[in-house]
Amino acid sequence: MCGIVGYIGKQDASNIVLSGLKRLEYRGYDSYGICFIEKDKHHLFKRVGKIEKTEQDFLNKNFKGSVCIAHNRWATTGLVNEENAHPHCDCKEEIFVVHNGIVENYKELKEKLIKEGHKFSSETDTEVIAHLIEKYYKDNLENAVKRALDDIRGTYGLVVASVKEPDKIVVARMSSPLIIGVGDNEFLVASDPSAIISRTRQIINLDDGEIAVLEVNNIRIYKEEKESKKDIQIIDWDIELAEKDGHEHFMLKEIMEEPNVIEDAMRGRLLDDMGMVKLGGLEGVENKLREINSLSLVGCGTAYYACRVGKYMIEEYADIPVEVDFGSEFRYKKPIIKKDGGILFVSQSGETADTLSCLKEMKEKGALTLGITNVVGSSQARETDAGVYTRSGPEISVASTKAFLGQLTVLVLVTIYLGRQRNMSMVMGKRIIDELKRIPELAKKILKQKEEIEKIAQKYKEYKNFWFIGRKYNYPIALEGALKLKEISYVHAEGVAGGELKHGPLALVEESFPTIAICPSDSVYDKMISNIEEIKARKGLVIAIATEGNEEIKKIVDDVIYIPKTLEMLTPLLSVIPLHLFAYYFAKSLKRDIDRPRNLAKSVTVE
Ligand code: AGP
Ligand code: GLU
Repeated sequence: MCGIVGYIGKQDASNIVLSGLKRLEYRGYDSYGICFIEKDKHHLFKRVGKIEKTEQDFLNKNFKGSVCIAHNRWATTGLVNEENAHPHCDCKEEIFVVHNGIVENYKELKEKLIKEGHKFSSETDTEVIAHLIEKYYKDNLENAVKRALDDIRGTYGLVVASVKEPDKIVVARMSSPLIIGVGDNEFLVASDPSAIISRTRQIINLDDGEIAVLEVNNIRIYKEEKESKKDIQIIDWDIELAEKDGHEHFMLKEIMEEPNVIEDAMRGRLLDDMGMVKLGGLEGVENKLREINSLSLVGCGTAYYACRVGKYMIEEYADIPVEVDFGSEFRYKKPIIKKDGGILFVSQSGETADTLSCLKEMKEKGALTLGITNVVGSSQARETDAGVYTRSGPEISVASTKAFLGQLTVLVLVTIYLGRQRNMSMVMGKRIIDELKRIPELAKKILKQKEEIEKIAQKYKEYKNFWFIGRKYNYPIALEGALKLKEISYVHAEGVAGGELKHGPLALVEESFPTIAICPSDSVYDKMISNIEEIKARKGLVIAIATEGNEEIKKIVDDVIYIPKTLEMLTPLLSVIPLHLFAYYFAKSLKRDIDRPRNLAKSVTVE
């Protein structure tokens, strides 16, 4: 995720671009940069942090110009500092690029370019694009861009400008969104309409594989050398909605991003042929990980539930005993630091005080500390001995949704990593990887049911109490589903292991106390059906999350939401999606402040 704004026209671009960048800061605010392009001259301004902190520095420069590209960074590769801020340029500072996405093969490209004499000034993956364009540049910018893109693997929303051809901006898209704004004698380019809606509501959506060449009075868009015929759309959203891609709340926008988040978390990390994964952030501790015989997983809230799923995965497929703890509990119990053990901290923000305080304590005791986080350069990322980024992009809504999918996906990768260091066969590794690659498409199938799920949520909106039940891999999903519902709709919801119902919780079941039962067709399905029958015998209403094709279950429950079939260990990546949507629509029916629920904060930086 990041924010991109570009302008080519007859007006001074300074305020147009600056206000556009500000609109896009929800997409990333690690750093920002603005570059004006003229014939054989450029003006480049970069700063770390949010725009408001250093906007006056920029204004004091009094840079002017009518060709400009700009970027808010959400770091995926390379620390958060000024050198790594975009725009990036080639050796001769003649070609400037801003990029949203991940260049999976940047390391090998960078090594090759360095051997060819290129000098790099940043740690980012993006900078290789600028040097590739330089390498291929003869006398036409768009041709050089095309050749550079043929070399890279990964995702991009890319905007390129050059002092050698200051009368054009070249734009390219692969998986990361980019739109073109059509004005009077001007064109704009942006990551989403919120950046340009105050200037023009006429937009062209760029599609994957397309390259656009923008000049003051002309636009050419083509794909594989063929001119693309594109319609101009009129954006009728207001700015607020535009920031949420037209969704009413960030939470829904972020739920809808879940398939892409799963894809981005695995991008460039699968060694399919060997049934293995490549996790650059663990390379430094690879041998230590080979030796560990126990693992503790530590997190809070939703991240803790990801840890609970990870426990099932790692114990079943990597044969390593796993303990799971809340950060707030782990820190105050007598921790047993095992010489052959490791502690893996999971945190979306990387700033949660309960988790960080454990991490610091354990480091002091000499434990091997690992991390899974979404924020590059966060406190957790800096403190742990090694770690893996989820690359989920900024998560704005207080209720964590897409980040949870990023955490689960990385936990699958870590399971394969540890398993293949032990007894997991190549065949098993390949089987999990092949199935994991299907999950984004299967997740999209579930999201297509959002209207049906909304109807079910509305049907139950009068109820004040809910059980969520699940077993094995889906017990933590029951816990997560209950948390999501209670934290944004303020009704009482509790997750419980299906087998535990008869040991007490069943006493609460009656017609006014519905249950959401997560019962995919897996190894504990029959046991879950028994639990559902215990509930039905007490007139409790049941909403089932079941595997598509299971018609039988319709005869015993009140409502069914289907999820596609997959490996048991991967069902949590699917079964949680209907629960996120259910919680969202339930809270919406109660007109709650969904993105900013009462009493809560996005990142709990106090103990
Ligand atoms: C989840 O929806 C909540 N917002 C909360 O439980 C959150 O998961 C918890 O505070 C941990 O945050 P972290 O992942 O940033 O550490
Ligand atoms: N991968 C690039 C970086 O880390 C772009 C990140 C973004 O999309 O902001 O700089």
